[in-house]
Amino acid sequence: MTEFKPLVFSGVQPTGNLHLGNYLGAIRKFVALQENNDCIYCVVDLHALTAQLVHEDMATQIRSITAAFLAAGIDPKKHIVFNQSQVPQHAELAWIFNCVARIGWMNRMTQFKDKAGKDREQASLGLYAYPSLMAADILVYRATHVPVGEDQKQHLELARDIAMKFNLDFHDKIKPTGLGIDIKVGEEPVHAYFPMVEPLIDGPAPRVMSLKDGTKKMSKSDPSDLSRINLMDDPDAISKKIRKAKTDPDALPSETEGLKGRPEADNLVGIFAALADKSKADVLSEFGGQQFSVFKPALIDLAVAALGPINAEMRRLMEDPGHIDAVLRDGGERARTRAEKTMNEVRDIIGFVR
Ligand code: TRP
Repeated sequence: MTEFKPLVFSGVQPTGNLHLGNYLGAIRKFVALQENNDCIYCVVDLHALTAQLVHEDMATQIRSITAAFLAAGIDPKKHIVFNQSQVPQHAELAWIFNCVARIGWMNRMTQFKDKAGKDREQASLGLYAYPSLMAADILVYRATHVPVGEDQKQHLELARDIAMKFNLDFHDKIKPTGLGIDIKVGEEPVHAYFPMVEPLIDGPAPRVMSLKDGTKKMSKSDPSDLSRINLMDDPDAISKKIRKAKTDPDALPSETEGLKGRPEADNLVGIFAALADKSKADVLSEFGGQQFSVFKPALIDLAVAALGPINAEMRRLMEDPGHIDAVLRDGGERARTRAEKTMNEVRDIIGFVR
């Protein structure tokens, strides 16, 4: 039984400001994974069209996500950093996947239901097909591991369903061409062209909540900018937002049990723990019994120390868009070479003449 070569792929949409939640939940994991893996990180600009077609500042948004990747420490020479639209093979494979995926599967996608809202007739066809393009993003490189947030788990299950149906439907074409390998799916041995992607969801990533309401996720669409720490916020802004963050009147508890029913305290302790690479219990053993007037300045120092350098580097990079574009072009070229190899094999499996 052979194995697919491990390959990490993930994507971030160029919409809205990146914030602390994106950093702790995604980008910081991307950085850690590059130590021991071959990684491809993509700014998914085609996906950005699914909810809203016209973006005044599309190019700036693409560059800003790229700048965040680079500033956080992703190495675009050892790995691949590019924007999706530079590799047309994503859209091409997505079309084939549109013909693999069943409408019933798409209808179960909870993110589509949420984003389309009540008036589904008015949602774009792209929003509906979004998970199929996402599957293509990953599988056009036959990537095996995908670091994402909990909210993307269902989309990755769909990617596995698409991969599995393709493998089974084309089985008689895959095997004789010598493409694909034997893998085990549960107890079943399957000859597969596409791997079964694994989500990388757990780890120390906390759910980062709004600084103004500890029961809501920190979000780029929250109308109050005070609710989130943006990666582009300078140290003054970080400090002001933490000072103004909502708390309750009590001192911090000494045990994590005591955070129950105190969402704002829980959130700030969680952010501290994530930034310091500690557990919440460790943070509370240090700060238990202390007031927020003591805890907040410590959190400000920590946040500024962790995010200040990233912020400064992002600003520096954003002043040289030509450099960012060159990084994306180089990544795009290398990504295209790999994606085209897959597409040629897929064309052969399907039987297209080329
Ligand atoms: N849907 C992902 C999100 O909103 C973004 C994305 C697009 C993605 N393609 C991907 C993530 C492929 C991982 C792999 O977060």
